[in-house]
Amino acid sequence: MTVSSAPGKVYLFGEHAVVYGEPAVPCAIERRATVTAKARDDDRLRVQTQDLTLDGFSVEYGDGVLNADVDVPRPLVEAAVGYVDGAIDQVRDVADENVGFTITIESDIPLGAGLGSSAAVVVAAIDAATREIGIELSPTEIADRAYRVEYDVQDGQASRADTFCSAMGGAVRVEGDDCRPIENASRLPFVIGYDGGTGDTGALVSGVRSLREEYDFAADTVRTVGDIVRVGERALAEGDIHKIGQLMDFNHGLLSALGVSSRSLDAMVWAARDADALGAKLTGAGGGGCIVALDESPSTATALSYTPGCEEAFRAELDRDGVRVEA
Ligand code: MEV
Repeated sequence: MTVSSAPGKVYLFGEHAVVYGEPAVPCAIERRATVTAKARDDDRLRVQTQDLTLDGFSVEYGDGVLNADVDVPRPLVEAAVGYVDGAIDQVRDVADENVGFTITIESDIPLGAGLGSSAAVVVAAIDAATREIGIELSPTEIADRAYRVEYDVQDGQASRADTFCSAMGGAVRVEGDDCRPIENASRLPFVIGYDGGTGDTGALVSGVRSLREEYDFAADTVRTVGDIVRVGERALAEGDIHKIGQLMDFNHGLLSALGVSSRSLDAMVWAARDADALGAKLTGAGGGGCIVALDESPSTATALSYTPGCEEAFRAELDRDGVRVEA
C-alpha cells in the first residue's frame, strides 16, 4: 500500500487567459488530496472516496458500477471518478501492463471550487500507484501525465497550470508548454472565501472562448490579463505585496467582464476589499466556488465569514511541497 498527497492551488493571476497561451501564476496551498493505492491481484480498478468535498460523500466505483451517496451533483462525482480512471490509464501506460488497483481518496480541497481539486487527485494518484508497483516518476513527468488526463476529461480545454502547480508546489509560472517554478516568491498571506458551490469548468472555458471569437475587445481582454500577469510577476519578485493586491483586483474585473464571476463570488470579493484586503479575485474557472484575497490581518477572514453566500473562510499558506509520498 502506498500513500501520496498533492496540494490544491489558487491562481494569483491568469486563469482562463492561460488556456490561450498567456502566462499564469498559480500558487500551491496547504490543502491536500491524499491518495492510497493498493495493487490488486486482478486488473480491476476500484475507487473509494470519502470527504472529497467539505460536505463529504462516498463513491464506490468498480465492476462498472457507480454507487454514489452524494450531496454534490452526480456529474461532478462521475468527473472525479473519470479523473482517477485517467490517472490509472497513465500508470498502466508507464507500466506497460494492465495493473489493477484499489484507490482510496481523501481530500480537504473542495471539489470543483477553483482550488485545483481534480489536478491534486490525479497527481497524487499517479504518484501513489506508480510507486506501489516500484516505479518512481519525477514530479515533472507526473505533471505532464496528469495534464494529459485533465486535457482528456475537459475535452481538450485544459492548460498545464493546475497539474504543474500541484506536482511542483510553491508558486509557478505557466505559459503554454513552458512551465517553471518561481524561486524566492514573496510571502503571500492568502485568505480564501468559499461559497459552497461549484462552477462547470468546461462550460465556463467554452463561454470565454466564444466571447473571444466573437469580439475583438474580448480577445483584447484576454491579452490584457496576460499583461497583468507579466507586471504581477515583477511585483512578486520584488515582494511588492501592495502592487500584487492591486493587480489581483484588476484581474478580477477582467474575469468578471469575461462573464465568469457570479453574484456570490463578487459579494465575497467586495467583502474582502471592504475589510481592507490588499486585493481579491475569484480563483479558477469561476461561476461559483472560491475567491482568494491577500491580507496579513484577520479582518478579511472575519468579514468573509459574516458575508451572506460565504460558507467558509480560511487562511491558506503557500505550500512549498508539491506531490510527496506519505507512507
Ligand atoms: C481552471 O482551474 C483554470 C482554467 O484556466 C482552465 C485551465 O487552465 O485548464 C479556467
